[in-house]
Amino acid sequence: MKKLIYSLPASLFEIFVVEFNGYGFEILNRDENEVVFAIYAQNEEVEGIKNSINEIFEDLGGGTLILEEDITEENWEEKWKENFQPIRIPPFIIIPEWEVYTGNDLIPIKIKPGMAFGTGLHPTTQIMLRLIPEYVNKGEYILDIGTGSGILAIAAAKIGAFVDAIDIQEEAVEECQQNAWENEVKINCQKKSVEEIDKKYDTVLANLQIDIFRKHFKTIASLFNRYLIISGIFKEKEKTDILKMADKSKLIPVKELSQPEEGKEGELWYGFVFRHK
Ligand SMILES: C[S@@+](CC[C@H](N)C(=O)[O-])C[C@H]1O[C@@H](n2cnc3c(N)ncnc32)[C@H](O)[C@@H]1O
Repeated sequence: MKKLIYSLPASLFEIFVVEFNGYGFEILNRDENEVVFAIYAQNEEVEGIKNSINEIFEDLGGGTLILEEDITEENWEEKWKENFQPIRIPPFIIIPEWEVYTGNDLIPIKIKPGMAFGTGLHPTTQIMLRLIPEYVNKGEYILDIGTGSGILAIAAAKIGAFVDAIDIQEEAVEECQQNAWENEVKINCQKKSVEEIDKKYDTVLANLQIDIFRKHFKTIASLFNRYLIISGIFKEKEKTDILKMADKSKLIPVKELSQPEEGKEGELWYGFVFRHK
C-alpha cells in the first residue's frame, strides 16, 4: 500500500476532484493558495493512479507529487475508517460498509469506499439524495445515469422503486453491484452509456458533469415520463446553460436546490427537478 501526497493550486482543486471522479483522498492542508492531499493506493494500482493524476494535472496546467511512501494495509483501512463518518441526509444516512445502523428513524445506505464516484461526501450527491425522496415513489421505474458507487440507485431502491443503473466505467458497475448486495436491494447495474438506452422510465436520475449534459441532454430528456432529477451543475454559468438546454427540450424546472462547495460559501452546486411542459 502506498500513500501519495500531492499539492495543487487551490483554484484547480474542484476541477481536479470532478475529473478524478470521486476516488477517495484525504485533505492534509487547504488554504486559499494550495491544497495538499493524500491518496491511498494498493501497490498494483499505484502506477495507473499516478498516470491518471499526471494526465489531469497536465490538462489543468498545475499540480505536483510531493511525496510517495509505503504504508501498511492496516493503516490505510484505519484512515478510511477515521475519515468516513456517517452522513445524515434525512431520510437517509450514509454509513461505511463495515458499520451497522442501530437507529430506526433513518434509512441506511452502506457504501464501500472504492474507485467510483459517490461516497456521499460530494455536494451534488447530497443534493440528489435530498430530491429523491420527494420525487421517487414505491413501485416506479427509475434509471440512474452515471451511477458510480450506486448510491442514488440504492436510495431509490430502498424507497421501493425498480432501478436500472448505468455507467460507462467497469469499476463503477462492479461497485454498484457490490454496494447493492451490501444494502440487500436489487439493482440492475449495467455498463452502458446513456445513448444506448432505448426504454422510457418514470423518473431519471442524472448526476453528471456539464459537458456530458451538453452532449446528451436531448437524449436524457427523452427517457422519462414524470421527472428528471439532475445535479452536477456548478456556479451561475452552468446553471444558465442547463436551463437553456431544458427549455430547448421543452422541460420546465419544478424544483431547484443548491449547496455550497465545501469551505466555499459563494460557490454553489445546483440540482434541478424537471418535468415535460
Ligand atoms: C459525478 S459521478 C456521479 C456518481 C453518483 N451517481 C453520485 O451521484 O454520487 C458521474 C458518473 O457518470 C459516469 N458517466 C460519464 N459519462 C457517462 C455516460 N455517457 N453514460 C453513463 N454514465 C456516464 C461517470 O463514469 C461517473 O461514474
